[in-house]
Amino acid sequence: MVTLETVKESPLVEQFMLMGNDYIGNIGAIEHNLKHAELTADLCYEILTTLGYPEREAELGRIAGYLHDIGNLVNRYGHGMSGALIAFYTLIDLGMDPVEVAIIMGAIGNHDEYAQGRCVNNVAAALILADKSDVHRSRVRKTDLGAFTPRDRVNYAVTNSELSIDPENKIITLKIEIDTEVCSVMEYFEIFLTKMLMSRRSAEYLGCEFELVINENRML
Ligand SMILES: [Fe+2]
Ligand SMILES: [Fe+2]
Repeated sequence: MVTLETVKESPLVEQFMLMGNDYIGNIGAIEHNLKHAELTADLCYEILTTLGYPEREAELGRIAGYLHDIGNLVNRYGHGMSGALIAFYTLIDLGMDPVEVAIIMGAIGNHDEYAQGRCVNNVAAALILADKSDVHRSRVRKTDLGAFTPRDRVNYAVTNSELSIDPENKIITLKIEIDTEVCSVMEYFEIFLTKMLMSRRSAEYLGCEFELVINENRML
């Protein structure tokens, strides 16, 4: 069976991910490096195992989490959809079962809020939650604060973020610490709202409630 370790052995995967991250770096987008891929993969796996989903489904989540931004190579716009197709060729080539490939394609193609990503399966829901939790100052590449987009600002403001899963009470909590010198809690909430509503829908899809806590204030 194809595991994340097998996927990582494909020379194409790492090369495409590194080049894609360089390309979007050239247009000033935030970091989508291997660290983001690893973090998303681990968190996706953790969400599914903690909530009691089968080990194999969680492994598919890990693979989807690792590969989800590979489409940045083609274009930042629609990277979920191009990424799903790159994943298709890569995983079929590795001999993965077509039904498993389909689950991963649906998840990758639906992780992006700008492309109206929806929870089409459990892996898609876990992937959205994992991806949207990786907000941090270290992902911003620009150094000139005047050139920041709203997306740069919401990332730059964050000094710590942590997703926790409570399987007994069925609650998924995203706790964020922000530097209010960069943006206020309310301003942050406003910019971050689309992502957070997507996370809430994903938690609900997995039978959980979603809580958002910013600087100890419960926002959702
Ligand atoms: Fe993405
Ligand atoms: Fe991502």
